[in-house]
Amino acid sequence: MACQYFESTENGAKNFTIALPKLTFGRGCLEEAGKRAKARKMTKVAVFTDRILSQLPYLQTLQNSLNEAGIDSAVFSEIQIEPSDRDVLAGANFLKEGKFNGVISLGGGSVMDTAKAAMVYALYPTEFTDYFAPPIGAGRPVPGPVLPHLACPTTSGTGSECTSLSVIRINDLNTKFVMASPFILPDEVLIDPVCCESLPGNVVASSGFDLLCHAIECYTSRAYTTWPHQEDPIKRPLIQGANPWSDLAAAEALKRVGKHLERGVSDPKDHEARDSLCWAASLAGMAFGNSGTHLPHALSYGVTHLMQDITTEGYEVASPFVPHGISVVVNAPSVFQYTSEEAGEAVSGRIIDLMRKTGMPNGLSGVGFSPEDLPDLTKSAIRQKRAIANAPRESNETDIFNIYQNAVSYW
Ligand SMILES: [Fe+2]
Repeated sequence: MACQYFESTENGAKNFTIALPKLTFGRGCLEEAGKRAKARKMTKVAVFTDRILSQLPYLQTLQNSLNEAGIDSAVFSEIQIEPSDRDVLAGANFLKEGKFNGVISLGGGSVMDTAKAAMVYALYPTEFTDYFAPPIGAGRPVPGPVLPHLACPTTSGTGSECTSLSVIRINDLNTKFVMASPFILPDEVLIDPVCCESLPGNVVASSGFDLLCHAIECYTSRAYTTWPHQEDPIKRPLIQGANPWSDLAAAEALKRVGKHLERGVSDPKDHEARDSLCWAASLAGMAFGNSGTHLPHALSYGVTHLMQDITTEGYEVASPFVPHGISVVVNAPSVFQYTSEEAGEAVSGRIIDLMRKTGMPNGLSGVGFSPEDLPDLTKSAIRQKRAIANAPRESNETDIFNIYQNAVSYW
């Protein structure tokens, strides 16, 4: 596969770009936050976190570290899981009122994505949908840099700490959209696996499937050389397709999640497995943040858009709620059967096996959908145009309907 990148293609992209934050990994590294923030000249920091995390000891660890470094801080914890435009605008107001010169996010994807978007709206306020892609938004680029951002993930899945993306639910439209801008890539990341120790098994499972899908989607996405060349480097989309870097990081993430997911789900004290999943999640973020995902993620938006009366054990969230990783993996085996016949069969067989062993729902029927919902799911998913086009095989509305149909139940 890799040699294709270095053959010239007519009108195809000639360059690929890799963007990564400075990154520290290791047990206890959250205690370095204060010194690292000080080195970045932060003197007054907004700490973004959520209600549950504010009752766990990690927030105290972070605050002690900031105090020791002589840094003032204030906490914003009004962030829901699957954050919406309301959370973002509340966060933006908090930033404006506090006159901060740095942000530290301590949490999962919801917290980090809120922090990223809140900085954008605090500094460059506009109509909310302006920075989102058409047809929903105006596709306006974020105008410039935001505040220095130190991201500290507390789940092993999203990879948001290493991406230039923020996924936000727009309440009036009742669905999630992605804001993409090189300016929202965190400057620095502290991956401290201690912060993932208290995660319940099924949160490790659903976030583990998110990371697993990031890695496979990234590894199997279209080569960047098959996207049209964009002369202006600033206008090149972040979803640029697979490249030698994303292959490398995705393959390593995949090896780790295959080896350690079951162990990490069943035994919270299995440090080797859980630490490895933390590293794999960030690696997969470093990969897909520089390539893009494809059909399993594109199809997950239909699931979270249309879900009804459902919750998942381990998540303190009101119904309806399907965790992101589950909304992705329920479609994944069917997608890989579609995108590549023989290899796809083997990949989906292994995913189904892992889903069963870790107590995942049985396809779309396991998260409350029936065959009557397929046309609406298809209509919702078809809007994710660039992600759909990043798949290794083209698909039209009928193909997407068929993929959903084969995802209704697997066993
Ligand atoms: Fe994801």
